[in-house]
Amino acid sequence: MKAPFSVFMSFITVCVLLVLLCMPVAVAKNAVAQADGADSASSPAIDPQSGLFEATGKNLVVAHCSACHSPALITQNAMSRERWLDTIRWMQETQKLWPLGDAEAPILDYLSKWYGPRTTSRRQPLAPHLMPDK
Ligand code: HEC
Repeated sequence: MKAPFSVFMSFITVCVLLVLLCMPVAVAKNAVAQADGADSASSPAIDPQSGLFEATGKNLVVAHCSACHSPALITQNAMSRERWLDTIRWMQETQKLWPLGDAEAPILDYLSKWYGPRTTSRRQPLAPHLMPDK
């Protein structure tokens, strides 16, 4: 009478211990998923073909700005709206860039929003979970 009950109790104890052991893993996975989500919320995905941010105006930029040179000339720059316009005017006056017409304003919106002046040239600090252990 006593033996089956204690077997049952040790079975319950093992189950409870297993659940407790698995909890930290579930919590850690959740934290990593949240950190990933935060990263992708701050800047849009990158179009693998052009290397440009996927955002409103990207298709116009690809259509008008990747015929003569790589879009990398855009992604490696960080300019104010005024300086982007100066660059476009310079290409129009000296490099045979065509008039952009109605596309000019949305192209400038896109360029100054996603490739605008950077407040810092340093990359963001690493997330704590990516730091080496001391
Ligand atoms: C008709 C051809 C042509 C088109 C279309 C064109 N560009 Fe250019 N662009 C050039 C040439 C030529 C250069 C000089 C390349 C070099 O120095 O190797 C240049 C250079 C640049 C540079 C570098 C400027 C610098 O100061 O170093 C940027 C940025 C740029 N283009 C952005 C754009 C953007 C944005 C568009 C779309 C609105 C565009 N380009 C469309 C011909 C073009």
